Amino acid sequence: MTRKTITSALPYIHGVPHLGNIVGSLLPADIFHRYQDLRGNDNIFICGSDVHGTPLELEALEQNVPVEELKQKNHEKVKSVLNDFDMDFSIYSNTHSDFNRRQTHDMFVELYTNGYIKEKKQTLPYSDEDERFLPDRYIEGECPECGGLARGDQCDECGTLLEPEELIEPYSTISGSEDIEFRETEHLFLDLPQFQEELLEWLENNDSPIPDNKLEEVKNSIEDTEMRCITRDINWGFEIPVERVNEKIADECLDAEKLDGEVYDEKVLYVWFDAPIGYIGFTRELFEDDSRWKDYWMNDESEVYHSIGKDNTIFHTVIWPSLLLGSSTEDEKYNLPHYEFIQQFLMAEDTKFSKSRGKGLSTEDALEMYPSDYWRFYLAKNLPQQHDSTFSWDDFESEINNVLNDTVGNFVNRTLSLAEQWFDSEVPTAELRPEDREVEEEALKVVDEYIEAFENHDLRTGVEKATEIARIGDQYLSEEEPWNNEDRKEETIYVSLHLIRALGVMLYPYTPEASQKISEMLKVEIHTEEGDDELVEPLLGNLNSGHELGEKEILFEKIDVSDQKDGNKNEGASDENMEKGLVSFDEFQDMDLRVGEVLEVEDHPNADKLYKVQLDVGDRQLQTCAGLVNHYSKEELEGRQVIVLANLEPTELRGEKSECMMLAAEDEKENVELLGLENELEIGSKVR
Ligand code: MF3
Ligand code: ZN
Repeated sequence: MTRKTITSALPYIHGVPHLGNIVGSLLPADIFHRYQDLRGNDNIFICGSDVHGTPLELEALEQNVPVEELKQKNHEKVKSVLNDFDMDFSIYSNTHSDFNRRQTHDMFVELYTNGYIKEKKQTLPYSDEDERFLPDRYIEGECPECGGLARGDQCDECGTLLEPEELIEPYSTISGSEDIEFRETEHLFLDLPQFQEELLEWLENNDSPIPDNKLEEVKNSIEDTEMRCITRDINWGFEIPVERVNEKIADECLDAEKLDGEVYDEKVLYVWFDAPIGYIGFTRELFEDDSRWKDYWMNDESEVYHSIGKDNTIFHTVIWPSLLLGSSTEDEKYNLPHYEFIQQFLMAEDTKFSKSRGKGLSTEDALEMYPSDYWRFYLAKNLPQQHDSTFSWDDFESEINNVLNDTVGNFVNRTLSLAEQWFDSEVPTAELRPEDREVEEEALKVVDEYIEAFENHDLRTGVEKATEIARIGDQYLSEEEPWNNEDRKEETIYVSLHLIRALGVMLYPYTPEASQKISEMLKVEIHTEEGDDELVEPLLGNLNSGHELGEKEILFEKIDVSDQKDGNKNEGASDENMEKGLVSFDEFQDMDLRVGEVLEVEDHPNADKLYKVQLDVGDRQLQTCAGLVNHYSKEELEGRQVIVLANLEPTELRGEKSECMMLAAEDEKENVELLGLENELEIGSKVR
């Protein structure tokens, strides 16, 4: 039986992942992995943070903290958000791990000594003001292709890979200086043209390793490939294994040129070199570096699946397979990718969900609004497999309310309520009639279509097939009306319970929390162990008569997205300002900020952490509910001058009116300080 290695593109850690990352690579990989688990297939799901490169170094520079510290902090954060999104990783590491360093250096040494890495002189942007070279994101300018804002290595607007010379009106992102000169320096290049033939052969495989709609584009980029620089003049990254290379050359009397330590000890490997290698590095980490990792990467019996967004295509279809080919040896050959899931973009109001420009919805915010299942379900149904798809709040609401609630939740709930009412929550004994068998047959056909969808790498259809089971069941109950028909009760509930069993299994890749609840309600486990295939009989047949069911639970709840939509629209803000995340002076002026005095503080009757506070704001008295119980005593508050937002839209917090807000600052350790004045001013004085 084949082994499967499934990877998701490694998220960057400057900022938390946004929905674009989830839909672009993480979710498809997780769905596919969970499906393999359902089938009982030996598989691993590999991911980790992509931590090297200029953005983090720049961020650390700005915050004046050591980059490793910032890396650890951001990595932990991203890891925990992904965990909340129910990503079922076999391992989630980060590219700075020692295991990845070893793997990166191993591959570098092979590539170099096999003649695939060449030294070249390069002219690179140098800023006198910053006294340094400006690689990648250290330099920005206008994109020559689309006119958008581009970085030194890539245009995020149109995805074109760039050389810094191509930027129009470039400037340093450190100092802003436009005084850029181009200086000569040596760098190492990956000799990609040497791999062209083998790459084309790989593509020509009957079982195409990439989606059909990408084939032409990938062929073209293989044919157009050039040497690519894999070293950088920055500090943050993996060092170049100069000594190991030179020792190998000496020991094996190779006729390769030795590397000059004086040049290369100052440079690091480019982030895109060690990032994909992370897939293997993390597998080594998963198996604690014993040779089992090779079973997943160097074995005829194993298949590697990558899941990426379209902006990562070249890296995974040209560069990465070249790295694998070039570091293979006679005895140890890396497998080329068996299949790559490549998603188009998820757009929000016509812009790509992207974190580097602060657009789009962060995963963290999304999870604060709604449970992970809701997002996973919606995003899976809208996976941009073929075309860009658009996120819309109305669609989101209608999918959750009409499909998850009214179809799935309703069918499960109806069946279990009836089972409770009629059979004391036991699976009844039933003699099925042909019309019952027919429904089971129909469901089994849908299960087959579900399997077929996965075999065709069509994850979108999979989720449709899962909910179709609920639709079949719902319709069946409505048609048979067992509540009006004494001698149809047993059969219909018996069959419906089996459909729910199938539904629970089939939803497992998409909405794992609901799936778990269903399995608890039925008291039937969903097996994900190797060798245990949940998608064959007795998928519909293992809930025997007399089996006791569990407690009924609510599966989903209806949602109302009107708040989200308003928040999203940010009324009154110009489009341009919204894009840049700016507020106009007028918008600022709309806020009635003023000096207030705390008159009276009481405990909130229904919330431990809140005080109910009366404030004098000059011309009137206002009430607010403030979460200050853990930070200030009542005595400390009473009589204090504070800054108040006096025209906040009134709302109720746990049954108490809250019609203004006291401003406070909070740090990451949750220390809270109220804003106040150094010297007292008249109550009602405006802040501006
Ligand atoms: N961090 C990259 C991105 O978000 C993806 C890296 S994928 C890997 O675009 F293959 F390099 F790991
Ligand atoms: Zn562009």
